Amino acid sequence: MEDLLEKIENGRATVGVIGLGYVGLPLAAVFHRSGLKVRGYDVDERKVAMLSEGKSYIKHIGVDVLKDLSDSVRFQATTKLEDLLGVDIYVMCLPTPLGAHEEPDMSYVFGTSELIAKQLTGNQLFVLESTTYPGATDSDVLRILTKGNQLELGTDLFLAFSPERENPAGSGDEAVETSIIPKLVGGVDESSGVLAAALYRCGGFKNVVKVKSARIAECSKLLENSFRVVNIALVNELKLVFEKMDVDIWEVLDAAETKPFGFKRFNPGPGVGGHCIPIDPFYLTWKAKEVGQRSEFIEISGRVNASMPSRIVDKVQLALNDVGKAVKGSKVMLIGIAYKPNVDDCRESPALKIWELLLDLQAAISYHDSFIPKVPKTRTHKRLEGVESVPVSEENLSQQDAVVIVTDHDNIEYDIFQRVRCPVIDTRNRLRGLKGINVVLA
Ligand SMILES: NC(=O)c1ccc[n+]([C@@H]2O[C@H](COP(=O)([O-])OP(=O)(O)OC[C@H]3O[C@@H](n4cnc5c(N)ncnc54)[C@H](O)[C@@H]3O)[C@@H](O)[C@H]2O)c1
Repeated sequence: MEDLLEKIENGRATVGVIGLGYVGLPLAAVFHRSGLKVRGYDVDERKVAMLSEGKSYIKHIGVDVLKDLSDSVRFQATTKLEDLLGVDIYVMCLPTPLGAHEEPDMSYVFGTSELIAKQLTGNQLFVLESTTYPGATDSDVLRILTKGNQLELGTDLFLAFSPERENPAGSGDEAVETSIIPKLVGGVDESSGVLAAALYRCGGFKNVVKVKSARIAECSKLLENSFRVVNIALVNELKLVFEKMDVDIWEVLDAAETKPFGFKRFNPGPGVGGHCIPIDPFYLTWKAKEVGQRSEFIEISGRVNASMPSRIVDKVQLALNDVGKAVKGSKVMLIGIAYKPNVDDCRESPALKIWELLLDLQAAISYHDSFIPKVPKTRTHKRLEGVESVPVSEENLSQQDAVVIVTDHDNIEYDIFQRVRCPVIDTRNRLRGLKGINVVLA
């Protein structure tokens, strides 16, 4: 352990980052910037090729960051796991989605851990960053990493969990650069915790918070995301309640926000998306059931949020009805299909669910999203794959029977909607204050 600690503290350690996506790529960049040697591994040949050429495949990660990596002798991107043989530290940032029955799909993490177990040479640290259920690190990953290789925890293998807290394209108060976000670290044993804390401290993170165990760190991540999912569901539900009372939720939120303590604002919307909020809390509900304890708040919140896309479609239907039209055969344009503003990520996006529901009602759908010029391959929206974004021009808008603002990217000139004649269903209250248009708040 002392050798490895000394290597980390003297900046001589080599870190292998497994998975170079939204989490792994910025993390590799932070480690590299701090002077560490970094090898990044990803199965996606396109990403690795782009990285080697200094090109970015994640819009909010600037080309300057990528250039730093591609020009450096301390960084290598590869599609071969063998190229990471002999690294001092593995940091795993692989996907942890849900399976068909909302059960954790740990196949990426477990499958690659099995391969890594075969190439561990001893005196190495392994850190899991992928979100997971409590106990995944100290039971499942530990068992896999030590299978058939005689390595012992705390002697020649060190294992920790450090949750990722990325906030892609966060803005305003939420705009936080990766290295500034306090980095939680929990070791499976004390020496693993010490090594992992040293890694992040020396690897460029300004504020490392070492907690007692990997489980505490795992649960903290789940608490953080459950907090979001529950509060978003609450405000989405209150939107529906207040609407029946003819009260505008947005005005209520502005009023409530004046309280300087004991209140945190969450905005209603078309549902939740991304790789975290719709997924992570259900890792916890699954584990809770296994130990015979239900986590009902999270389950109810999940149902409320999941029902929002169909509520939005109801609003589209009513708005068309008001102007004497049926959904069937109507032209509807969706504005913004990313799961949140200013990101190029449409994983689990409610926009895709709204789109599918409108297609089921036989509407003719087009979309605009400059961050997502073409709908990528997804697991659940196969019929949308490959559809291309169209411009938000007056000409395109004039041909629509309805427009739905699903995700309000900042790069759109919203004034243009002032000249739109058809109903505009606004799920984000982005058109607040614009006069003379048929806006339907949804
Ligand atoms: N995106 C976020 O903002 C965010 C925030 C907090 C936590 N997380 C968690 O971090 C983890 C990673 O999420 P992400 O958003 O970076 O996912 P991602 O899909 O953007 O990145 C995963 C990367 O792993 C690669 N990959 C897939 N299978 C692989 C394999 N077998 N071997 C090597 N590479 C492989 C993919 O090509 C991809 O580049 C998840 O557990 C997620 O819940 C994500």
